[in-house]
Amino acid sequence: MKVAAMTLPQQKAGQSTRNQTQSKKELIISYYEKAGPDYQSWSKNYNMHFGYWKKGINPLNREAMLEQLNEKVFEKLSINHVKPFAIADLGCGLGATLRYGAKKYPTMKGKGITLVPWQVDQAKSLNTKSKATESIEIIEGDYCNTKFADNSLDAVIAIESSCYASGDNKSDLLNEIQRILKPGGRFVISDGFLKKPLGPNGFLRSVYDQLCASWALTELGSIKEVESRLRQLKFKDIEIEDVSMNIAPSVAHVPFTVIYFLIKELLFGKEKMTKERWDNLKSPLLTMVLGSARSHFGYYFVSGTKG
Ligand SMILES: C[S@@+](CC[C@H](N)C(=O)[O-])C[C@H]1O[C@@H](n2cnc3c(N)ncnc32)[C@H](O)[C@@H]1O
Repeated sequence: MKVAAMTLPQQKAGQSTRNQTQSKKELIISYYEKAGPDYQSWSKNYNMHFGYWKKGINPLNREAMLEQLNEKVFEKLSINHVKPFAIADLGCGLGATLRYGAKKYPTMKGKGITLVPWQVDQAKSLNTKSKATESIEIIEGDYCNTKFADNSLDAVIAIESSCYASGDNKSDLLNEIQRILKPGGRFVISDGFLKKPLGPNGFLRSVYDQLCASWALTELGSIKEVESRLRQLKFKDIEIEDVSMNIAPSVAHVPFTVIYFLIKELLFGKEKMTKERWDNLKSPLLTMVLGSARSHFGYYFVSGTKG
């Protein structure tokens, strides 16, 4: 009786955490299943991220900036791609980054993982069209709990997906990256992070809460907490690079893309504008507002080597 009285609250707490995790996953799946097809109006190659501008790229050419972000991520991995290498894309969306890698590096063996069954099917069919099925495998699953063996990968990337991991230090995801990388293996995370905590009230807090809700996020990572977790996990060569100004030109495309998309949908759209589709238009606009609060928010490349 005593034992039962002691364990029951713990069991309940454990069960409620499991239920919360489950409903969080269901929210993400529902959001990406309903809003996913609209990403085509952002990127013809289905890059589900912002772009990276550098000198020499036309800032009006969005796709070139989106592909340049893929290029930068591979560059930061500093892989010896003369030899075969195994890379996992954690939160791979429709697999655009791995397809970019497969074209550039014939020695690449890529594994993309996403929670969303619809994305798995679409990514597989896009891989078939690009003749990349030999070099890319797409897997449905949770990137915090993958089936990859310990110490099995040369490289791991997570582009605008780390924000979905729990907590402000994203430790579930970082622990998994640490487990699956080979010693000496490299990782790159590309994402938006908070530079310092927001107050409980006020305009920015309200923008932030709406952004999280409309993108099916619980919370953004804190760049300081993420760095400190990486140090605890004994990663080496940790580099935290604020690339907000390189990302800004692609963010500036958001209002034009949204207006063009809405006009097209209102005139010719056949699918109902669901809440998820409206949210998918609202969230990048809110990112523009939050992104202009430079003291609180930044877009970063976070990279390191497993010790
Ligand atoms: C904004 S999209 C980015 C997709 C892709 N990295 C890109 O840049 O094109 C976020 C992705 O994270 C994935 N994701 C979120 N939480 C996840 C989890 N726990 N496990 C696996 N994938 C997850 C979503 O399914 C979605 O594919």
